[in-house]
Amino acid sequence: MIGRRRGVELKTADQMRQMRRAGLVVAQAHAELAEAAAPGVTTGELDQLAREVLARNGASSSFLGYGAGFGLPPYPAVACISVNEEIVHGIPGERVLADGDLVSFDFGAIIGGWHGDGAVTFPAGEWTPERRRLSDVTRDALWAGIGAARLGGRVSDISHAVEEFIESCDDHEFGIVEEYTGHGIGSAMHQPPDVPNYGRPGRGPKIVEGLCLAVEPMITWGSAETATLDDEWTVVTRDSSDAAHWEHTITVTKRGLWVLTALDGGEEALGRLGLPFGPLAD
Ligand code: MF3
Ligand code: CO
Repeated sequence: MIGRRRGVELKTADQMRQMRRAGLVVAQAHAELAEAAAPGVTTGELDQLAREVLARNGASSSFLGYGAGFGLPPYPAVACISVNEEIVHGIPGERVLADGDLVSFDFGAIIGGWHGDGAVTFPAGEWTPERRRLSDVTRDALWAGIGAARLGGRVSDISHAVEEFIESCDDHEFGIVEEYTGHGIGSAMHQPPDVPNYGRPGRGPKIVEGLCLAVEPMITWGSAETATLDDEWTVVTRDSSDAAHWEHTITVTKRGLWVLTALDGGEEALGRLGLPFGPLAD
């Protein structure tokens, strides 16, 4: 750590390289799980695959056992798998995926004490056009948020860009979940500052070198009101409408953006958006 500003942990270049290693484990799990998801597979089996990705890479889980210090039952899995009307924190288990299910897979890995956290949404089998659209809009909102991060800017520039992107979608009225937010990340999974998915730009901590953030829009097809199930973890939409979740851990260097949980560091998506790709040299 090279310093703290208002409780914000700033990482050295070497620490961010470690976070990139953790992020690559997350990216690998995303790719393998999207491939493995199919009708007939249980969410517990997907969690087992995610455990194997950790083991193969000598990484540990950011999620397993989480929450015990906050009066929650310790989280019992390495992944959160949230299906259809489940928004986040779905616990993997006996549930058998059905054709057309919308599966949000959220996963965190630790290497050398440094965390990576990311989520993707993928189908089991074939999606309806509505489900595809919901996932695409959520993913694009994530990239709009990432694209708004620049050195000298403020954290809420990201929040504002996510909201603005969702508001600009005029084919449907999507809901933006407000109770759950992105966050700082580094030597712990959840650090200050919060990164909400709505709000006015120009607020919050300054975006400086060494700041690492998890940006994670959760978007609903219907109302954005949430409820938590009796397991104390699973968050669902109150109106049972579908929800999607996409997340990346990012940082901003002098050269541009570095998406630590994307296999290619974000190069391809940033290129399409005309944004600078700025990984640290090895
Ligand atoms: N990736 C999730 C988030 O940042 C955290 C999962 S909660 C856990 O919202 F308990 F599973 F760790
Ligand atoms: Co997160």
